[in-house]
Amino acid sequence: MTKQTILTGIKPTGRPHLGNYLGMIRPTLQMMEANSGNTNCLMVADIHAISGIADATKMRELTYEVGAVLLGCGLDATVNILFKESDVPEIAELTTYLMHVTPKGLMDRAHAYKAMVDDNRARNADADEGVGMGLYTYPILMAADIFVTDTTHVPVGRDQQQHVEFARDIAGYFNNTFGQTLTVPQHVIQPDVATVPGLDGRKMSKSYDNVVPIFDTPANIEKAVKRIVTDSALPADKKDPDANTVYQIYKAIASKDEAAALAERFRAGGLGYGDAKKILAEKIIAEFGGKYARYEHFMNNRAEVDAIFAAGAARVRAKAQDVMARVKKAVGVAV
Ligand code: ADP
Ligand code: TRP
Repeated sequence: MTKQTILTGIKPTGRPHLGNYLGMIRPTLQMMEANSGNTNCLMVADIHAISGIADATKMRELTYEVGAVLLGCGLDATVNILFKESDVPEIAELTTYLMHVTPKGLMDRAHAYKAMVDDNRARNADADEGVGMGLYTYPILMAADIFVTDTTHVPVGRDQQQHVEFARDIAGYFNNTFGQTLTVPQHVIQPDVATVPGLDGRKMSKSYDNVVPIFDTPANIEKAVKRIVTDSALPADKKDPDANTVYQIYKAIASKDEAAALAERFRAGGLGYGDAKKILAEKIIAEFGGKYARYEHFMNNRAEVDAIFAAGAARVRAKAQDVMARVKKAVGVAV
């Protein structure tokens, strides 16, 4: 495998859920293992979360929660880097430099911003109501996260593809204007689990209240799985696996062989949604059962998480300062 520098981020805007785990966390940890010996970074995107949370206590709580979840899922912070965005001031500094090469029109096309504008228009409100500059320029901050470590590969779920493409564009604008300075990154999306559906069939997301929790009691996981919306087919009926959310989620977590076997049972008829939900819940509980103690350890030992964040930031800053020196030289504010 070629030498890669991997970085991805997750906002502490809620407790990470099964969609985050299958779409981003699990594939990222697998990629990092295959890339051991090179630089692998996981970042808690706390600056990105400021406008979404707007509550200091919640921000602190959820930052630990996300850290403990990543460590609980198996991130080895002695070899890989876990850090908080806010601990690396070079990220904010680089953002300001990138502003000068980023066309406004690029930001106008960002999905998150466009969705808000569409919502506002649908309510006959002012198009930019509730849109802060933090949200509007969000893709520039994300590009800075990616550039400060000279990241080559960014593992994300499908919904983040556009943001990584914007980072490529921004690196291109900068390099074309000031000469080859920034590393152009590429996204990596796990094709089988690009978007995990939630309980209601829409994308599983903290913002939709349709998530399956991960580090939770078996009873709570079962309860969530039971809420998955299904059609009114009877147990005996033959079912199209691709048209039901229970199977879609199962397919994202199970091995290819397990998924093929369950698909066959749906097609043959005789498998009711109730039983299929039990199979799915067991699979989820088994996936996290062995990881729970590690998660709990970090939730109860916050000083350890703080120390890991601090060590991670120190490692990132060593690289980030090099990148900033290059950027400053390229634009001519430094020699
Ligand atoms: P949310 O939509 O719940 O707020 P985030 O925006 O914090 O999630 O996403 C963090 C990471 O998890 C991103 O890489 C994102 O693409 C991935 N992700 C989030 N939800 C899903 C999903 N339903 N399916 C696949 N990946 C997802
Ligand atoms: N914007 C990403 C999300 O909403 C989180 C994120 C912030 C990120 N910075 C990043 C992802 C850098 C990849 C690389 O999920």
